[in-house]
Amino acid sequence: MKIAISSDHGGNNLRHEIMNLLAELGLDYTDFGPDSNESVDYPDYALPVSKGVANGEFDKGILICGTGIGMSIAANKVDGIRCALVHDVFSAKATRGHNDSNILAMGERVIGPGLAREIVTAWLDTPFEGGRHERRIAKLTELENGAR
Ligand code: RB5
Repeated sequence: MKIAISSDHGGNNLRHEIMNLLAELGLDYTDFGPDSNESVDYPDYALPVSKGVANGEFDKGILICGTGIGMSIAANKVDGIRCALVHDVFSAKATRGHNDSNILAMGERVIGPGLAREIVTAWLDTPFEGGRHERRIAKLTELENGAR
Protein backbone atom coordinates (compact mmCIF):
# COMPACT_ATOMS: atom_id res chain seq x y z
CA MET A 1 0.00 0.00 0.00
CA LYS A 2 1.35 3.43 -0.97
CA ILE A 3 0.44 6.31 1.31
CA ALA A 4 0.82 10.07 0.77
CA ILE A 5 0.94 12.41 3.76
CA SER A 6 1.15 16.16 4.34
CA SER A 7 0.15 18.80 6.85
CA ASP A 8 0.25 22.54 7.38
CA HIS A 9 2.21 24.19 10.21
CA GLY A 10 -0.65 23.40 12.61
CA GLY A 11 -0.25 19.68 11.94
CA ASN A 12 3.50 19.41 11.67
CA ASN A 13 4.15 17.63 14.99
CA LEU A 14 1.37 15.10 14.52
CA ARG A 15 2.49 14.46 10.93
CA HIS A 16 5.93 13.42 12.20
CA GLU A 17 4.31 11.19 14.83
CA ILE A 18 2.20 9.50 12.14
CA MET A 19 5.20 9.09 9.82
CA ASN A 20 6.96 7.32 12.70
CA LEU A 21 3.92 5.04 13.02
CA LEU A 22 3.88 4.28 9.28
CA ALA A 23 7.58 3.41 9.43
CA GLU A 24 7.00 1.16 12.45
CA LEU A 25 4.24 -0.61 10.50
CA GLY A 26 6.62 -1.05 7.56
CA LEU A 27 4.36 0.94 5.23
CA ASP A 28 5.53 2.79 2.14
CA TYR A 29 4.79 6.50 2.49
CA THR A 30 5.69 9.72 0.70
CA ASP A 31 5.93 12.94 2.69
CA PHE A 32 4.72 16.13 0.97
CA GLY A 33 5.86 18.41 3.80
CA PRO A 34 6.09 21.12 4.89
CA ASP A 35 9.77 21.05 5.83
CA SER A 36 9.56 23.75 8.52
CA ASN A 37 7.16 25.21 11.11
CA GLU A 38 6.63 28.40 9.09
CA SER A 39 3.02 29.37 8.50
CA VAL A 40 1.70 27.91 5.24
CA ASP A 41 -1.69 27.63 3.50
CA TYR A 42 -3.33 24.22 3.95
CA PRO A 43 -4.84 24.01 0.41
CA ASP A 44 -1.30 24.07 -1.03
CA TYR A 45 -0.43 20.95 0.97
CA ALA A 46 -3.77 19.17 0.57
CA LEU A 47 -3.56 19.35 -3.22
CA PRO A 48 -0.53 17.11 -4.02
CA VAL A 49 -1.78 14.38 -1.69
CA SER A 50 -5.33 14.60 -3.06
CA LYS A 51 -4.23 14.61 -6.69
CA GLY A 52 -1.86 11.71 -6.06
CA VAL A 53 -4.64 9.60 -4.54
CA ALA A 54 -7.19 10.62 -7.18
CA ASN A 55 -4.86 9.68 -10.05
CA GLY A 56 -3.91 6.34 -8.49
CA GLU A 57 -0.29 7.13 -7.72
CA PHE A 58 -1.12 6.50 -4.05
CA ASP A 59 -3.67 4.16 -2.47
CA LYS A 60 -4.46 6.37 0.50
CA GLY A 61 -3.67 9.81 1.91
CA ILE A 62 -3.36 11.36 5.36
CA LEU A 63 -3.80 15.12 5.88
CA ILE A 64 -3.24 16.97 9.14
CA CYS A 65 -3.82 20.60 10.10
CA GLY A 66 -4.77 22.31 13.36
CA THR A 67 -8.37 21.12 13.22
CA GLY A 68 -8.34 18.83 10.18
CA ILE A 69 -11.22 20.91 8.82
CA GLY A 70 -9.38 23.02 6.25
CA MET A 71 -7.51 20.00 4.93
CA SER A 72 -10.70 17.95 4.60
CA ILE A 73 -12.57 20.75 2.82
CA ALA A 74 -9.71 21.20 0.37
CA ALA A 75 -9.28 17.47 -0.31
CA ASN A 76 -12.98 16.93 -0.97
CA LYS A 77 -12.88 19.52 -3.78
CA VAL A 78 -10.76 17.11 -5.84
CA ASP A 79 -12.81 14.66 -7.95
CA GLY A 80 -12.45 11.09 -6.75
CA ILE A 81 -11.52 12.04 -3.19
CA ARG A 82 -13.58 10.91 -0.23
CA CYS A 83 -11.80 12.55 2.68
CA ALA A 84 -13.07 11.83 6.19
CA LEU A 85 -12.30 14.10 9.13
CA VAL A 86 -11.96 11.67 12.03
CA HIS A 87 -11.22 12.08 15.72
CA ASP A 88 -12.43 8.74 17.11
CA VAL A 89 -11.74 5.07 16.37
CA PHE A 90 -15.40 4.17 15.71
CA SER A 91 -15.62 6.73 12.88
CA ALA A 92 -12.24 5.62 11.49
CA LYS A 93 -13.60 2.10 11.02
CA ALA A 94 -17.04 3.25 9.84
CA THR A 95 -15.74 5.60 7.19
CA ARG A 96 -13.59 2.89 5.65
CA GLY A 97 -16.35 0.29 5.82
CA HIS A 98 -19.16 2.51 4.58
CA ASN A 99 -17.64 5.47 2.68
CA ASP A 100 -14.52 3.78 1.29
CA SER A 101 -12.73 6.99 2.34
CA ASN A 102 -9.41 7.32 0.57
CA ILE A 103 -8.02 10.22 2.63
CA LEU A 104 -8.00 10.60 6.41
CA ALA A 105 -7.89 14.10 7.92
CA MET A 106 -7.10 14.82 11.57
CA GLY A 107 -6.49 17.90 13.73
CA GLU A 108 -3.35 18.12 15.83
CA ARG A 109 -5.02 20.69 18.11
CA VAL A 110 -8.01 18.38 18.66
CA ILE A 111 -6.58 14.99 19.65
CA GLY A 112 -3.38 13.63 21.15
CA PRO A 113 -0.78 11.46 19.43
CA GLY A 114 -1.88 8.22 21.10
CA LEU A 115 -5.45 8.45 19.84
CA ALA A 116 -4.25 9.63 16.43
CA ARG A 117 -2.08 6.52 16.14
CA GLU A 118 -5.05 4.29 16.98
CA ILE A 119 -7.22 6.11 14.45
CA VAL A 120 -4.66 5.73 11.66
CA THR A 121 -4.13 2.04 12.45
CA ALA A 122 -7.89 1.33 12.48
CA TRP A 123 -8.44 3.33 9.29
CA LEU A 124 -5.67 1.53 7.41
CA ASP A 125 -6.77 -1.91 8.66
CA THR A 126 -10.49 -1.66 7.89
CA PRO A 127 -11.68 -2.85 4.46
CA PHE A 128 -14.57 -1.35 2.47
CA GLU A 129 -17.73 -3.42 3.00
CA GLY A 130 -19.11 -2.92 -0.52
CA GLY A 131 -22.71 -4.07 -1.04
CA ARG A 132 -25.27 -1.31 -0.49
CA HIS A 133 -22.46 1.16 0.10
CA GLU A 134 -21.30 0.78 -3.52
CA ARG A 135 -24.58 2.33 -4.69
CA ARG A 136 -24.17 5.32 -2.38
CA ILE A 137 -20.61 5.95 -3.50
CA ALA A 138 -21.74 5.76 -7.13
CA LYS A 139 -24.17 8.58 -6.26
CA LEU A 140 -21.29 10.64 -4.88
CA THR A 141 -19.50 10.17 -8.18
CA GLU A 142 -22.67 11.30 -10.00
CA LEU A 143 -22.55 14.50 -7.91
CA GLU A 144 -18.98 15.09 -9.08
CA ASN A 145 -20.21 14.62 -12.63
CA GLY A 146 -22.81 17.36 -12.28
CA ALA A 147 -25.94 15.53 -11.08
CA ARG A 148 -28.04 17.83 -8.86
C1 RB5 B 1 -3.88 27.27 10.99
O1 RB5 B 1 -3.80 28.25 11.96
C2 RB5 B 1 -5.23 26.59 11.04
O2 RB5 B 1 -6.22 27.47 10.58
C3 RB5 B 1 -5.21 25.33 10.20
O3 RB5 B 1 -4.22 24.49 10.67
C4 RB5 B 1 -6.48 24.51 10.16
O4 RB5 B 1 -6.96 24.28 11.44
C5 RB5 B 1 -7.51 25.00 9.24
O5 RB5 B 1 -8.59 24.39 9.10
